[in-house]
Amino acid sequence: MYKVACIVFALFAVASAVPSAFDTEHVWKAGNLSYPFPGNAILGGFDPYGYNIYIGRVKYSNTILPARVVAETGVAYFNNQLTSSKATSYDLLVAGRNVNYLWVRSFDGLYERYAVSVGTSVYNERVFMCRAKTDGGLLIGSLFLSEKLCIIKHETLALRKFDKYEVLVGQPKNGTVF
Ligand SMILES: *[C@@H]1O[C@H](CO)[C@@H](O)[C@H](O)[C@H]1NC(C)=O
Ligand SMILES: *[C@@H]1O[C@H](CO)[C@@H](O)[C@H](O)[C@H]1NC(C)=O
Repeated sequence: MYKVACIVFALFAVASAVPSAFDTEHVWKAGNLSYPFPGNAILGGFDPYGYNIYIGRVKYSNTILPARVVAETGVAYFNNQLTSSKATSYDLLVAGRNVNYLWVRSFDGLYERYAVSVGTSVYNERVFMCRAKTDGGLLIGSLFLSEKLCIIKHETLALRKFDKYEVLVGQPKNGTVF
């Protein structure tokens, strides 16, 4: 009986670990330091060194995560619930003709209408973009609605968790429906 339960559990665990997928609802452009930086990349804040950070995403450990991209150095900084890392190739969110990007105040993992997802996690949960003022910067972090927290960790700084934060939303302009 115990063995059967274990097998059923193992099957469930395998079934729920689906591959992550990139969001296709918004316009993302692949980038690295060799490519011209797109003029329509969207500014998301500034880092503790005063560099502007643009809104990006990377794939890490089978999860698509929001990234803080510095145009001058071509480095994308990002974090998940546990750790921070960086990458030298990334996607940048670029302005779409029919959408207005703005940050709205939110809290406790509420779903905000038109919240921008970067893609999905290894557990097939959509990952959203949040930001907060911390560590001398205005930093973009990862919002997993199920965790009810905006999680930010920049480089070697401490992991920060916010229950109040801003969420990036992409509002359709005048009546565009999607
Ligand atoms: C950027 O990507 C292109 C295409 O994959 C590659 O040829 C180039 O070496 C990359 N540049 C950097 C700085 O990583
Ligand atoms: C509003 O909608 C009209 C008709 O669909 C379109 O021509 C116009 O460009 C739109 N305006 C904006 C600001 O998107």
